[in-house]
Amino acid sequence: MASFSNVSKFCLLALTALTTVLSASGAGKQTDVTYKDITFIVISQPNTYHANRAQLLKEDFEKQVKQLNLKGDDRPALYLLHETEGLPELGAWTLFPVFSVFSNVFPSTPWVFFCEEETRIKLPKLLNVLKGFDSSKDVFLGRGLHDSHISIIHHFYGFEDPEAFAFPDLRAGFLISRPLVNRLAEMMIDLSAADLNSVDFNIDPKHEFARYLSEKLATNLTELTEFCVLDSEDCATYDNLRFPQCGAAIPDDDLSIAVKTCGKFHADRVPVVKKTWDRESRNIEYFSDVDDPSIPTITLGIPNTERGHCGKTMAIIRRAAERKEFAGKKWLLIADDDTIISLHRLRLMLACYNASEEIALGERYGYMSARGYGYDYITGGGGMLFSWPLLERLAKECSCPSDDAPDDMILGMCLKRIDVKITHSPYIHQARKEDYSEDFVKHRTHVSFHKHWDCDPLETYKFLQTDVPSEHDEL
Ligand SMILES: *[C@@H]1O[C@H](CO)[C@@H](O)[C@H](O)[C@H]1NC(C)=O
Ligand SMILES: *[C@@H]1O[C@H](CO)[C@@H](O)[C@H](O)[C@H]1NC(C)=O
Repeated sequence: MASFSNVSKFCLLALTALTTVLSASGAGKQTDVTYKDITFIVISQPNTYHANRAQLLKEDFEKQVKQLNLKGDDRPALYLLHETEGLPELGAWTLFPVFSVFSNVFPSTPWVFFCEEETRIKLPKLLNVLKGFDSSKDVFLGRGLHDSHISIIHHFYGFEDPEAFAFPDLRAGFLISRPLVNRLAEMMIDLSAADLNSVDFNIDPKHEFARYLSEKLATNLTELTEFCVLDSEDCATYDNLRFPQCGAAIPDDDLSIAVKTCGKFHADRVPVVKKTWDRESRNIEYFSDVDDPSIPTITLGIPNTERGHCGKTMAIIRRAAERKEFAGKKWLLIADDDTIISLHRLRLMLACYNASEEIALGERYGYMSARGYGYDYITGGGGMLFSWPLLERLAKECSCPSDDAPDDMILGMCLKRIDVKITHSPYIHQARKEDYSEDFVKHRTHVSFHKHWDCDPLETYKFLQTDVPSEHDEL
């Protein structure tokens, strides 16, 4: 009998401890929550293709609202950021500037849900998830991604235990509770007090935002299996798309490609390009400071620079804009000699975009964008794409302060000045495949990665050749 009572006492203690843990994270008791208690915010983009994709999400959402017979005050609100008035001009994609105006723009609901344009939400299931959480506590819910080692794209965060830190997969969306929204909003009123130093460079907003919540608001992501990428019965959210599907790839001749290299890389990097993606196009030119007929290279009279390559990049842009042989081209890709890219996939993706519009496409980074006053830029390593109408404007309206200024950032500043928003592609990558969370890489199809060090670029290229998996083959 004595041992039985000890066991039950132990169980009781364990149960009390568990309840304490759960209620600290806002979980545990059943709460009353209705659809109108959630504000939905889609991190959308103004580019026509992306705006249309976000519109599809909105239509899917509205269909459910109708099926659930939610009317008038019972309707939950959904916002597409690119068409929401009252936001700062810049940086909403980093999320921070959204909070600087939150109460002026959005209703003060107990819950706020953020997601991407391809996220799909099953409203009843999401509501069910929320029934287990208390919105008066600090709650941050989503699908967790983890780094298996410290990563350059996450500012080498989490040195002691990189696996431990969870950041939300935006494809699955995430939820935060009102107290967190209010505290963020308060902090963003005074930027010097907000202490955004850790996010001066905006590289991976989902990680930077989660890190900020962890460090400044002592709130970590609670990982829930109902937030999904691949859909299944139990999922409240999932990712609708692995790779854009816009019909046939654009013709090879619509795309002109410039590879930036220099003398010291002719022997090691260029042969890798020649062995891989060079074979996918007859429109590749190599630009170098050194003549090398075996490649062959084009020299532009710009000496090689160790730091940035603004002089070289602007000369490439001007040459393409001015020369007759480029007449009829629709896109220019500027890549590095250590970019690893599938041109086939790139041409498939470009079929989604209207090349008559002014488009700057690639992986978007930001400098001071989280403060709402810096600038966004396309980070060069994964490839920068310019539609021809924009290219012609860049040739006329942009210039380099010096040949060795960073080309991608100078172009970003110029794009801001001429009021062209960068179009972000989640398929183009500045870093090595190894630098991204494995779980992030796994469920999407990718166009490019960058850098040869400490990885096998031929393997990466092979990875980019493997068939786009069909939607449900991993279920
Ligand atoms: C959040 O997670 C980190 C591990 O990444 C941990 O060091 C920290 O103590 C956690 N914070 C809270 C408030 O639980
Ligand atoms: C492409 O963009 C141009 C310029 O904005 C526009 O005139 C044209 O109608 C667009 N084409 C399509 C198919 O939307």
